[in-house]
Amino acid sequence: MAVPQAEAFRRLNDSLAFDWRLAPYDIEQSAAHATMLAARGIISASDRDALLAALDVVAGEVREGRFTIAEGDEDVHMAIERRVTELAGEAGGRLHTARSRNDQVATDMAMFTRDAALGAEAAALELAGTLIELAERHLDWPMPGYTHLQRAQPVYLGHHLLAYAWMLLRDAHRFRGVLGGTEALPLGAGALAGVNFDTDREMVAAELGFAHVAENSIDAVSNRDFVLDYLAAASTCATHLSRLGAEIVLWSSEEFGFCEVADEWASGSSIMPQKKNPDAAELLRAKAPRIAAHLTALHGVLHGLPLTYNKDLQEDKEHLFDAVDSLQLVLAAAQGMLATISFRRERLAAAAGDELLAATDIADLLVKRGMPFRSSHHIVGGLVRLAVGSGRRLSELTPGELRAASPLLEPDAFYALLSDGAWLESKSSRGGTGSSAVREQLAHAREQLQRARAGR
Ligand code: ARG
Repeated sequence: MAVPQAEAFRRLNDSLAFDWRLAPYDIEQSAAHATMLAARGIISASDRDALLAALDVVAGEVREGRFTIAEGDEDVHMAIERRVTELAGEAGGRLHTARSRNDQVATDMAMFTRDAALGAEAAALELAGTLIELAERHLDWPMPGYTHLQRAQPVYLGHHLLAYAWMLLRDAHRFRGVLGGTEALPLGAGALAGVNFDTDREMVAAELGFAHVAENSIDAVSNRDFVLDYLAAASTCATHLSRLGAEIVLWSSEEFGFCEVADEWASGSSIMPQKKNPDAAELLRAKAPRIAAHLTALHGVLHGLPLTYNKDLQEDKEHLFDAVDSLQLVLAAAQGMLATISFRRERLAAAAGDELLAATDIADLLVKRGMPFRSSHHIVGGLVRLAVGSGRRLSELTPGELRAASPLLEPDAFYALLSDGAWLESKSSRGGTGSSAVREQLAHAREQLQRARAGR
């Protein structure tokens, strides 16, 4: 080009600063492409050998961080082709036969996304495994369960931790689902309309691990659905981790005092010596919107975008890459933090021993004697007000007060219910917090984890 590009245009337009991460995929697909071109007689065997040898050298340079960027290397594709041509001479100029950067970049992105989804699936399963083990170790530790962040009904800590295990198992499943969208090979679509050569796309697909070839060349170069799929799965997973982080922040405060984050996962205050800050948990909480923003941003890039390739599509990369890195980091942090966290049994039990948590169970006593739940709810509400208003525990109400509230309320049954904490074990329904139900749940979670691991 006679006129040099404006400096700010180059900075806007060049993608090498971030798309270098695609280099291993670009090299792999280039080798598969060159092999196919020779197999179809489109290039000679000696050109193929020269290309493969050069690509091998470039792969080594990239791996060892020796690859040097040259003036005019706009993106990873041009940089690699430039270097291959330096090494292979005229044969290098044949690498781009029957190919465009449009189908090339879509192919690299599909390969990158496939690996990212597999990596996220593995990390989600590992975290699910850690949560399951943690739940098992705290299977019968009572704690208050909350709604509206108000103490609601007691549950076992193991039950609460398993709730997160199920989220992570679903996340792993979602990442696996992302793979389906990466199975159609874009390469061979050319710029948008197909190519003027008798290529063998199936051969390239098989070589690169794609299940089949993209059926429509226009769709092939325009499609970034699989990036959206990954970002959607990653956003959901990060949102789960943010809820986990938020609970650990609350629980490790003196107000709750339910857990303590290990020293390696906390920081001290620079000014207040008594403090231990659960920074990792806070950052789990805060990373989720960043990943969700990448999803929203890519929807913004794609929405209303005319077919086929537009430079807008270059904006898929930083959103994907940052989401992949951020998610990897929060999954690893959650893993490490949970593997070393300690819970405080007495504090949890003291909070769970709050008799007011039995209010629903007292109401159910009346229901079992025939009263409609709505009426019993009302009566127990009156008892709670009476106790709290007179500064007493529920078990300190007198038999007379109980009978006055309802003749159906048998004082013996009332005091028995409050005395032995039986209102926790009575939640024996499937999926509930009673010990036998939680044990059954734990076994199911383990089975699901094993199946997911075996399916990898
Ligand atoms: N760097 C570009 C991207 O990431 C590669 C494709 C360029 N294609 C083109 N026709 N300019 O999207």
